Formats: sequence, C-alpha cells, structure tokens
Amino acid sequence: MAKVDVLLGLQWGDEGKGKIVDVLTPRYDIIARFQGGPNAGHTIEFDGKKFVLHTIPSGIFNEKTINVIGNGVIIDPFVLKKEIAQLNEGGIQVHGHLVISRKAHIILPTHRLLDAVSEQAKGKNKIGSTLKGISPAYTDKISRSGMRIGDLESSEFDKRYHLARERHMKSIDQYDIDYSEMKFDGLSFTEYEKNWLEALEVLRELKKVNSEYYLNSALRDGKNILAEGAQGTLLDIDFGSYPFVTSSNTITAGVCSGLGVAPSKVGNVYGIFKAYCTRVGSGPFPTELMDEDGELLRKVGNEFGSTTGRPRRCGWLDLPALKYAVMLNGVTELMMMKADVLNSFSMLKVAVQYKYNGQFSEEIPFESVSLDLEPVYETLKGWNRELELTERYDDLPVELTDYVSFIEERVGVPVKIVSLGPDRKETVFK
Ligand code: GDP
Ligand code: IMO
Ligand code: MG
Repeated sequence: MAKVDVLLGLQWGDEGKGKIVDVLTPRYDIIARFQGGPNAGHTIEFDGKKFVLHTIPSGIFNEKTINVIGNGVIIDPFVLKKEIAQLNEGGIQVHGHLVISRKAHIILPTHRLLDAVSEQAKGKNKIGSTLKGISPAYTDKISRSGMRIGDLESSEFDKRYHLARERHMKSIDQYDIDYSEMKFDGLSFTEYEKNWLEALEVLRELKKVNSEYYLNSALRDGKNILAEGAQGTLLDIDFGSYPFVTSSNTITAGVCSGLGVAPSKVGNVYGIFKAYCTRVGSGPFPTELMDEDGELLRKVGNEFGSTTGRPRRCGWLDLPALKYAVMLNGVTELMMMKADVLNSFSMLKVAVQYKYNGQFSEEIPFESVSLDLEPVYETLKGWNRELELTERYDDLPVELTDYVSFIEERVGVPVKIVSLGPDRKETVFK
C-alpha cells in the first residue's frame, strides 16, 4: 500500500513550505493540509506570477492533483472565499480540485474578535498571534463546543451559530475592551461578520468528504499523498516555546490526527529549514540578530510576514533547535531554503550549543522562555558572491556545499534540496 509523505517546517514557520510543495506536486495525486488555519501564508511563484495561500493546499496549481483540507485544519469561510477568488483571477480553477473534510472546524467571526481582544488584554505579554482566530477556534474544538464543516448541512446550523456567538460575546464583554475601531481584513467587525455569513455559500458549494475514508481508500488504490504542514515545529503546541506557540500539533504526529492516517502509513518526512532563522511574533529566539546582519537578512530575504506583513525577526541557523525538530518529526530528508539570502556574507555563524545556568548544552530546557539561552557559535566561510542559476548541485560554490555538508554531518540527515530563490525553477536537487 502507498504511504503518506509529509512536508513540514522545522523552525518557526515561513521556511518556504509552499514553494517546495508546489515543486513536488507533480509526483503526487493528492496534497493534504493537516493542521493550522489562515494563520498560514504559503507563497508560490512561477512564470512571473505570485500567489499566497492560507487554507488551500499548495498543490492547487497542478491540474491533475486533488487538494484536501483535512479534519485537523480550521477554516475561515471569509478567507477561503477570498483565496478562491484570487486563484480564479490568476486563471487557477479550484472547483473539482479541492475537497474539504466534514470534520474540519469553522472559525467564526467572534473567534477572531476574541483573538483580538485577548491579545490586546495581554499587553506586553502578547503572543503576537496572527489575529485570525486560531486559538479561540481550537479552544472551542478541544472544549467540545466547536462547529464543523459537516454542520453546514444541518438545519440547526443557524441556531447553533447564534448560540456560539452569544457565548463568545459574553467572554468578549468581560475583557472590557472597545473593539469598535478594530479592523478584520480591513473591515469593521459588523462588516466582516456580514461578509463571513455570505461566504458560507461558497463553503456549501465545495465538495465535502469524510476525509479519513477518502484518504485511506486513496492509499489502498496506490495513490501518492503528500501531507503539507503549516507553521513550524518550534511553534508546536506541545513542543514549542509555550505559551509563544500556535494552537495545533505542527509535527509529523499531527498528520495522523489531522488526516486520520495511521503512524504505520507515514512514509518519507521532508523537513524544511531556512539557511538561517526567522521568527514572527513574540517568544524566545536564541540566535536573533539585533544588528546590521539581522537587518541585512530581513532586507535581502524580504522577511515580512506573508499573512500579516509584519517584519520577521532574523538570526543565524540554530543547530540544537534543528536537531530537536528532526528528532520530533522523524525527518528522513532535509531541504535547505533561501541559501541565496546569505550571498553577501563572508562569514556565516551557526549555533552548535547553548550556554545557560553556567553550563553548555544542546538541549532546549523547559525554562526556555524565562532563561537566557546564549548561543555558542561555530564560524564557517561564506561564498560571498551572487549564485548563478543552476540545476546541478556540483555547480554550487564549494563554501555553500561545505555549509550543507556541515549541517548534514551535525544533524545526521541528508539535504536533498537546496533552494536558491522564490521561483519554482530556482531549486537544486542533490
Ligand atoms: P511558508 O509559509 O513556509 O510557505 O513560507 P512563506 O511563503 O511564508 O515565506 C517564504 C518566503 O520566501 C516567500 O516569500 C517565498 O517566495 C520566499 N522563498 C522561498 N524559497 C526561497 C529561496 O530559496 N530564496 C528566496 N530568496 N526566497 C525564497
Ligand atoms: P506558515 O504556515 C510564521 C506565529 C504567530 C505567533 C504564533 C501564534 O506561513 O509558516 P496564531 O495566529 O497561530 O495564534 O499565532 O505563531 N505563526 C506563524 N509564524 N508562519 C506561520 O505560518 C505562522 N502561523 C502562526 O506569528 O507568533
Ligand atoms: Mg508563511
């Protein structure tokens, strides 16, 4: 029987998952998102066009591929409607290529409002959430009061929506925060809710399936499936720097619960990382650069959030964190992204362990949020020149292949792809 391959981020998100899923899509019959929601922003560039996807899997640009939004994903109909419209404008057909799990939960307008007021109430301790309603929607799922895609087919939908809205409004009122001026995708709450209600029609038209049966039956038929992760391992609800995390399991284990496939059905695990590190939102970042090197990474790497436009924090590659992610996910192949962003550096630093409590260690301690983890660096030679577009790994500068070999050796997993630019074509297979 065929297996489900997995592609996920090993850092704090935005590693370039969308680009590589798109590159690998011709090898797969099905691409399936297994967790997260519109907090994700996955960028795909080809033929001079650029698309940013939030909910729809990045396999949508290949006509032969079916894209599945799995049960572990949470969906905002307003965002999904906009996404479909943008794809249609770009000449991409969604209907007939996208199916949604009936068990996926719905993000309600009041989830977004709750996210906004609770973040504001946290003040300087805010998580820096994307304000897409992620935490409140997953909270309702876990507390067994959420609404699911399958509920759209029920005559009780409106009644349940109004009950949920009322319940959320009571919590929102307790924060005692004036939200009249707050904007949701540029709209006031009232306008956003009106648009959200209209967008339910788009959801009603899309094909809904019991995706666990759909995917397992596809596997029995020998179909190739790739599971597409959102966010990154260091934002995982269990293993990230809690509470500065997202609200889902972003690791390989999330594929099993988010799609309904058994662990024995998981095949290759592709772990994506940037040749350096970025993080958007609050929380610890041991190798963060607050100097001109950090500024250069942000500028050259265009490190501004795909979903929120916020500047991303930038820093050197963190090997203990990368090894942690490889361990948690059972990564079988690594993919290194954005090597081109390091072109102008003559020296590259890589953190190989941390110093904390007066000792050296590779382990991320439980107190990673309150302790100052001081990175211990090794320095490697940079290639310090523009990279020429090539498909051959051996054509790359020796300093770059040495950088890759250093990582492979320390992490113990081979690097199979090196990405040299945002376009599909700027990809080197090793
Ligand atoms: P995702 O959330 O993991 O899919 O990543 P994002 O799309 O949020 O962020 C990655 C950004 O880097 C996007 O703007 C991509 O177009 C861009 N990108 C991807 N790979 C490369 C690369 O190898 N080099 C450069 N310079 N940009 C890249
Ligand atoms: P992709 O899939 C980068 C971050 C937010 C915040 C924290 C919690 O594009 O890699 P949330 O809205 O989930 O409650 O925010 O997680 N975050 C991401 N950072 N890429 C993402 O997705 C992210 N999704 C959430 O910035 O720090
Ligand atoms: Mg992103």
